[in-house]
Amino acid sequence: MVQTNATTDRLTLRRPDDFHLHLRDGAMLQAVLPETARHFGRAIIMPNLVPPVVTAAQAAAYRDRILAALPEGMTFTPLMTLYLTEETDPEDVAAAHASGLATAVKLYPAGATTNSASGVRDFAKVRPVLEKMAEIGMPLCVHGEVTDADIDIFDREAVFIDKVLKPIRKKTPDLRVVMEHVTTQDAVDYVRDTHKNLAATITTHHLIINRNHILAGGIRPHYYCLPVAKREMHRVALVQAAISGDPRFFLGTDSAPHTDANKLLPCGCAGVFSATNTLSCLAEVFETAGKLRELEAFVSLNGARFYGLPPSGETIDLVRGAPVSYPDHIDTGDGPVTVFDPGFPLHWRVEA
Ligand code: DOR
Ligand code: ZN
Repeated sequence: MVQTNATTDRLTLRRPDDFHLHLRDGAMLQAVLPETARHFGRAIIMPNLVPPVVTAAQAAAYRDRILAALPEGMTFTPLMTLYLTEETDPEDVAAAHASGLATAVKLYPAGATTNSASGVRDFAKVRPVLEKMAEIGMPLCVHGEVTDADIDIFDREAVFIDKVLKPIRKKTPDLRVVMEHVTTQDAVDYVRDTHKNLAATITTHHLIINRNHILAGGIRPHYYCLPVAKREMHRVALVQAAISGDPRFFLGTDSAPHTDANKLLPCGCAGVFSATNTLSCLAEVFETAGKLRELEAFVSLNGARFYGLPPSGETIDLVRGAPVSYPDHIDTGDGPVTVFDPGFPLHWRVEA
């Protein structure tokens, strides 16, 4: 379906999907939803609200609020997730999946990130849910970081793979797992070396920044997210995975809005808001790597295939020209939210 003309200044793609997105609620939801729905057809919606979206009933109510916030004339399908707790009822999960309400379950190790306090401490306690999910083919989206204070923050993903994910997958090999927002060569290698029931999402920002962008020459809170960006060799491994066309790697932006007031604090929130300019950023990354032809697989095909969804029947056009300017922030009823700054000019815009 990728069509490029002779000079490759126009790219027609099936309408992309975002397989990891934070939309929040209330005024924030109202402001950020159009930023995604403008370009994306569907998104996996993260359940880490306060309180979290744990039950089928909560997911149904949240889906209604999302659809109610969608501006007139826009189409968008939220794919709901349930937040896994040690009290989650396997039957509630199974019913939510069977009815089409919930697409996946999200595992946050307790304390790993924003609003993860109700997450999992003792993995033995969620075994019945995981077994039920394996039985019905419902995917588990995993925030793959250990939370132990004595594990270096830059090592938490690699340690999670060995200490948590491998044992879970050994005990429940039929469970379909998405390692979300992978940030390391270790995770890329693990996914590549595993031939069944494992895939990974990669964010836009982790394809572009490394840890120097956060810390060298002054601290840049708007680049701080979890998992935190790692050293350059890991970023390069992520780019190689994304451009490879390997169907196990696909886009999940993890676009995670926080107001500037909450980012620019002595202890600021983790999250990068990239919904607004993600496709322009990705086109630039793929073009620089000489792999524009693989962009459609990464943003529009691989994820849908893993989730058993048909690819979109709609298309979007990306057009190359003079650098596009995006706003440096969007206004929300809660205050301004800064848009991800890739640090280089963006030549591809999405044609309306
Ligand atoms: O940076 C992040 N922000 N990582 C997460 O896992 C959660 C997210 C958020 O909800 O803000
Ligand atoms: Zn996230």
